[in-house]
Amino acid sequence: MKNIAIFASGSGSNAERIYDYFQGDSEVNISMILCNNPEAGVIARAERLNIPLVMFDRAALKSGEVVRILQENDTDWVILAGFLWLIPKNMVEAFPNKIVNIHPALLPKFGGKGMYGHFVHEAVVANKETESGITIHFVNEHYDEGNIIFQASYPVLPTDSPEDVAKKGQVLEHEYFPKVIEELIK
Ligand code: GAR
Repeated sequence: MKNIAIFASGSGSNAERIYDYFQGDSEVNISMILCNNPEAGVIARAERLNIPLVMFDRAALKSGEVVRILQENDTDWVILAGFLWLIPKNMVEAFPNKIVNIHPALLPKFGGKGMYGHFVHEAVVANKETESGITIHFVNEHYDEGNIIFQASYPVLPTDSPEDVAKKGQVLEHEYFPKVIEELIK
């Protein structure tokens, strides 16, 4: 049995999608959701789905307290599903090549500090891109720079709003993120 801990800061639609995908899978357990944002929609999802929820702050992340919680719970993989803080060195070193992030653009384009969620889609439209996509990658100590595992793209039309772009990206994220995780861990 592989234990997956999911980190999320926002709505948590990817977290729920991943949970649903592995329901009934005897090899994969979504063991907990970790969240840094008391306003996040993922909190209600974790409660509804009965997934253990751990709230933490910046101090706990930086001090290694979060790593301790992950290790005490026999975590095998860490999945960042809309998690917006930088992962500290202590966590990268504790889980080498076992932390995976999803980013809503075709990295290395539109990545880095401050490039998340709607900021990415607004930049894609402002830049008149003709395509965008999703990137799933390993996590290192720098925002959005770890080795790329998977990318998928979609066309951006001249008439698309940032919201249109976001919707196209979310469809791909929900389709591919659980499958890529499955391939990685099995
Ligand atoms: C996703 O689109 C994910 O790619 C993005 O946050 C969204 C979370 O949606 N992540 C980043 O921007 C990371 N830099 P969700 O909460 O509905 O899963």
